[in-house]
Amino acid sequence: MARLAIILAAGEGTRMRSAFPKVLHRVGGRSLVGHALSAVKAAKFDAVSVVIGPNHENVGEEAKRFAPDAKTFVQRDRKGTAHAVMQADLTGNYDAIVVAFGDTPFVSAETLARMGDAVKGNVAVAALGFRAADPTGYGRFITRDGKLVAIREHKDASESERNITLCNAGIMALAGKHAAAILKKISNNNANGEFYLTDAVEIAAGMGLDCVALETSEDEVRGINTKAQLAEAEAVLQAKLRQRAMEQGVTLIAPETVFLSEDTKFGSDVVVEPYVVFAAGVVVEDGAVIHSFSHLDGAHVGKQASIGPYARLRPGTKLGAKVRIGNFVETKAANIEDGAKANHLSYIGDARVGENANVGAGTITCNYDGFGKAKTDIGAGAFIGSNSSLVAPVKIGDGAYIGSGSVITLDVPADALAVGRGRQSVKEGWAKRLRDARLALKK
Ligand code: UD1
Ligand code: MG
Repeated sequence: MARLAIILAAGEGTRMRSAFPKVLHRVGGRSLVGHALSAVKAAKFDAVSVVIGPNHENVGEEAKRFAPDAKTFVQRDRKGTAHAVMQADLTGNYDAIVVAFGDTPFVSAETLARMGDAVKGNVAVAALGFRAADPTGYGRFITRDGKLVAIREHKDASESERNITLCNAGIMALAGKHAAAILKKISNNNANGEFYLTDAVEIAAGMGLDCVALETSEDEVRGINTKAQLAEAEAVLQAKLRQRAMEQGVTLIAPETVFLSEDTKFGSDVVVEPYVVFAAGVVVEDGAVIHSFSHLDGAHVGKQASIGPYARLRPGTKLGAKVRIGNFVETKAANIEDGAKANHLSYIGDARVGENANVGAGTITCNYDGFGKAKTDIGAGAFIGSNSSLVAPVKIGDGAYIGSGSVITLDVPADALAVGRGRQSVKEGWAKRLRDARLALKK
């Protein structure tokens, strides 16, 4: 059974009121088209095509990230969903062609596979339906004697057809051997002047072929057309991700305040305090504690590490076991090895911090000179005094000691002390003399 999946992603997304293509908007840290393609991938289709809009190369690139073998096709004029499908290459003797939307992110792999399975024998079209709480705007399934005979778009539907609550989710499977013949017959004679894929049902029925309706839940097929729907989808997904994390044993003290990504990974006995955000690509190992108000993005947190409160871990952060990152510490592209600590008010970027090193309050790695980035290397067991600036590229040897308030521009050998600051001078009685002189002037 060879199967092709086509993801339609060429829509303008006008209702999003955004300069970005709609399908690049994110839910749970993943783009809408990324969600759709993840399901396609899990359903193991033999080929994947994505139909994108003109000047939407970024959608093509995002698609390749999730499905490197996907072919992209550009739909120059957006003349409707059937027209979009016809931009893809349908030759290839596919048994089933499953069409899904780039703006419908929660469709499961099982549903996509079920759709593909449904077209066989005399069944040429399978359409996915759901019972809509509010069917306004959706296409309606018209059935006769239990058979699906047409899908009527809301705008084209009669008063009585609008009372139908079984709505079209938009996902459709076509038998490969009939697809081209059916699509060719679709016209744009409707309220929108578009070539509707939904007309495939009526046409196939007219050709003496069968159409079937499959049903699923509204939550699975919620389409995203507006920012409000994007936010609703986020809420639905977050509820699911929190539930999943807790089922795996993560302690979420106030789950409704924690935001997760589809790909957030937790080990056992992780505790997450209230108000923490996990952007994409975060792994948290066993026994780590993430304190309140921390933001983690593309970071790997080692076993029994302690993060925050108020920590910011940016992409490329890798923390070993028992690392402590305290309040108002920011890390980026930083490899912080087992037992190292940066407890207060620091920026550690493009750096390695060796095992058990101690990075004092206010330490900054000066990694950027306005043109390029350079690396800071802090050896195992080094002690960086508070409020030091480490001007990269620079290397602090194992066990070295940096005096507080230093600006370090030269490498420091292992076990050495480096102090780079003005020497303190003390003038006995100076303050008193000043006060006395000023007071004398006032008299
Ligand atoms: C579509 C269905 C409707 C269904 C609803 C479910 C049709 C004609 N209507 O309506 O029955 O109830 O989805 O959400 O199929 N697209 C293109 N090129 C185009 C037009 C659309 O690629 O020329 C893509 C869009 O990017 C989107 C998808 O097709 O991913 C659906 O288009 P959209 O305009 O959102 O259709 P709806 O009006 O929601
Ligand atoms: Mg839509």
